[in-house]
Amino acid sequence: MHEEKIKKLYQLKKLAEGGGGQEKIDAQHSKGKLTARERIEILLDPNTFVEIDKYVTHRSEDANEKKYYGDGVVTGFGLVNGRQVFIYAYDFTVLGGSLGEMAGRKISKIMEHAMDCGAPILGIIDSGGARIQEGVMSLDGYGGIFFKNMMASGVIPQITASIGPCAGGAVYSPAMTDFVIMVEKVGQMFVTGPEVVKEVLSQDVSFEDLGGAKTHATKSGVAHFVAKNEYDCIDKIRTLLSFLPQNNSEEAPFVETSDDINRVDPKLLSILPENPYEQYDMKQIIKLIADRGEFFEIHELFAENIIVGFARMAGRSVGIVANQPMYLAGALDINSSSKAARFIRFCDSFNIPIVTLVDTPGYLPGTDQESNGIIRHGSKLLYAYCEATVPKITCIIGKAYGGAYIAMGSKNLGTDVNYAWPTAEIAVLGPEAAITIIHRRDLKHSPDAAATKRKLVKDFRDKFANPYIAAEKGIIDAVIDPMETRPMIIHALVAFSNKRESRPVRKHGNINL
Ligand code: HXC
Repeated sequence: MHEEKIKKLYQLKKLAEGGGGQEKIDAQHSKGKLTARERIEILLDPNTFVEIDKYVTHRSEDANEKKYYGDGVVTGFGLVNGRQVFIYAYDFTVLGGSLGEMAGRKISKIMEHAMDCGAPILGIIDSGGARIQEGVMSLDGYGGIFFKNMMASGVIPQITASIGPCAGGAVYSPAMTDFVIMVEKVGQMFVTGPEVVKEVLSQDVSFEDLGGAKTHATKSGVAHFVAKNEYDCIDKIRTLLSFLPQNNSEEAPFVETSDDINRVDPKLLSILPENPYEQYDMKQIIKLIADRGEFFEIHELFAENIIVGFARMAGRSVGIVANQPMYLAGALDINSSSKAARFIRFCDSFNIPIVTLVDTPGYLPGTDQESNGIIRHGSKLLYAYCEATVPKITCIIGKAYGGAYIAMGSKNLGTDVNYAWPTAEIAVLGPEAAITIIHRRDLKHSPDAAATKRKLVKDFRDKFANPYIAAEKGIIDAVIDPMETRPMIIHALVAFSNKRESRPVRKHGNINL
């Protein structure tokens, strides 16, 4: 009697785990894609996955909608590197991973469990969007997921991987999560597909150009990471998790390091060119100060004039924000402001201190930037720094001019410790622009305007473009030897690790979106 029941359990289990059937699984494999269950298996630690809601089926009144156990999404919990996570993966073999009422309820339920347990939620998307047969119930399902995304925001880390089409409603939930990873040539995200674009706008566009990984990593900024393949995607998720706490009331895990906290590095100064107009790669500086030279960059291909990402210093996660003089000379523009502001807000939500490295000639001027909203977007960066109450340590390396000086974690934005290298140039404007304005008349009447300008620029640089005026006023806390940057930042991080800062009671602030 019992044997029969156990037999039935295994029959149903096999049926459910078969998703949309062998033919559909073969079709998935023939596209070079893994199935939802295979993905979960390689993402989680071996034998830790517990699936829930395996036997859920749709309850649509449409007689043509075939019933599949699981209803097109696999949900459950397990461990990554021994730490608890909750997970859902759309199953493309079932009705193209489209989302109906019950699939929506399954995802909302697993997200709620993740929040209750204070553990990250991971989503793997491979979906045709709202299930057409279920009409408003599938739209309502998305509504429920978006609500949970908002509730989880800043409470538990939310990470999404796009490993297949993410069409229609399937794009907005990832966009509301903290990090999106797209697999090259496999992940595609679009609100409306190429056919609709053709019909409505008479434009021919490929899936890849419209919503491929490259488009979203370089132009729209939707994708924080591009993975070469599914395995690389899973590696990236596991690495990303290693830098994050489980939830907003915990610290990121401490990772023992053999890298000396007092390590001084003479190579640091040699990276900075003598000529302030020459480019250099700020990532070299980041790697020299981080534990074991490890830096996990986010949004690597988007707004490359600013660098954001995670490193560890003395074994603790830090969020690095740094200008990149290799692109636009490190000037701040619309995209770099939004990119850095969002990253700072993530770090602040999850107790990750922020280390800022500055070398920027200012906000990018011009009609393009002004008309597209540099004021609106640029203000996000100011807001994010001011709002953040985690330890904030800034080090000015080279140029720090005007509004961009203020925006890059300057003292009065509530930064805890502000260092500068002796090479720092802190001024309202760069020397050339400043001279053109304050010596306009002298230059006009000079018999050799070029030579006069050169001299005036040199005098200005010697007199104003240095860190000592700011240090005299206490706006720079210490001018440091570049080779001591790592220990000086670590000492400041340790000193401010127990910092408490309170803010006025309010429902929420109103960042200029
Ligand atoms: C029901 C769907 C479906 C959907 C795909 N399928 N999308 N079923 N609802 N939204 C089914 C197909 O009928 C097919 O079933 C199976 O999934 C595989 O689909 P194919 O088209 O054969 O696969 P492929 O060629 O790989 O193309 C995948 C795709 C394409 C690019 C995702 O299917 C597609 O364009 N789908 C529609 C996308 C879309 O417009 N979605 C609605 C968005 S509106 P069989 O039985 O033949 O295997 C929306 C509104 C929400 O989401 C907004 C909230 C903010």
